[in-house]
Amino acid sequence: MKLASGHEAAILEGEERERMNNDWQGFFKGLVRLTPGRWLLPAPYLNFGDKYYSFQFKPSDVVVMTYSKSGTTWMQEIVWTMRNNPELDHPMTNTHIFARSPFLEFDMITACSETPPPLDHPMVQAFFKMCPGKSPLDGAQLQMAEVLPEPRTIKSHLPFSLLTPGLLDTAKVVGVIRNPKDVIVSFHHHCRLIAGQKYVGSFEDFVTYFVEDDLIYGPYWLHLKEMWEKREHPNLLIVFYEDLKADVMKELKRLNEFMGTGLTETQLGNVQRHTSFGEMKAREKTLIGQDLFNQDVFKKDGGFFRKGQSGDWKGKLTPELEAKVDQYVQQKLSDLKIPFNFS
Ligand code: PPS
Repeated sequence: MKLASGHEAAILEGEERERMNNDWQGFFKGLVRLTPGRWLLPAPYLNFGDKYYSFQFKPSDVVVMTYSKSGTTWMQEIVWTMRNNPELDHPMTNTHIFARSPFLEFDMITACSETPPPLDHPMVQAFFKMCPGKSPLDGAQLQMAEVLPEPRTIKSHLPFSLLTPGLLDTAKVVGVIRNPKDVIVSFHHHCRLIAGQKYVGSFEDFVTYFVEDDLIYGPYWLHLKEMWEKREHPNLLIVFYEDLKADVMKELKRLNEFMGTGLTETQLGNVQRHTSFGEMKAREKTLIGQDLFNQDVFKKDGGFFRKGQSGDWKGKLTPELEAKVDQYVQQKLSDLKIPFNFS
């Protein structure tokens, strides 16, 4: 099947599909591989992909664009708070993040999940309120993103090549990059935690999936390459997760400048506090919801806000697995000279 983006899409079949079906027990509608790029996405992408590719961005939009588990939610809350809530008095302060900052392509994931959000889920309720008379089957988050009042803060894990051409000439993009070792550890936890994914394979196999570009939204390296090559564009700001951890105020000031928000030191202080790991974790139940988690993993290994640290991979990757990731970085990313911080 040919897509508007020019990619050829093929449903994953045979052994490859079987292996993934065994390891991801929450996905049940399969996966699709796009060529060129070898992008791997949930099969319902085929219903939505052309809509994502033609999504109408506006000059006041800020798109938070990341590979999964790179600090998207943190940046989403920062950007939304800076633009809508610097005094922390907005009536939607304590609501689900996707009710005010949609996840553009979330519908392809929920459509593939054995446990999609129920009708009384705050996210779905927000959809019915914002899009009366519309069907969530046509894409709840997608349609919310369309009708959301300006200024819109939109999350996406899609790479530039699968989003509207000319996006950067219309809207602003904040890209977040996190070192691949911490991404792997965080993504592994996520895939075990989320009932709609339910990864039951081993951690060793998960690392292999990553380095062989067999995790959804991958290849990680190509997502970063497409972004890094555009880093000089005035509408793109790249922030490293590790820099946010090291000196969040410094990065908030860069964002303040980039987005033209003009916040005072006191307001930036509000944003810093409100988006700290501790405060976001304390709001997890309303911010993200805990109802779609595998409860056994949640109780044993924590929720969405797991550790929020840099360098947590150190206790998790054996020397062999670390060498595997180092080789991947060397082979796929060394040309780009992205200044990863692994510590
Ligand atoms: S997702 O599901 O792909 O959108 O996940 P994403 O939001 O990109 O990444 C989740 C990881 O980011 C951590 N996180 C934070 N770290 C520091 N401070 C704050 N405020 C914060 N909020 C989220 C979250 O804990 C996940 O990382 P790990 O390493 O698993 O803890």
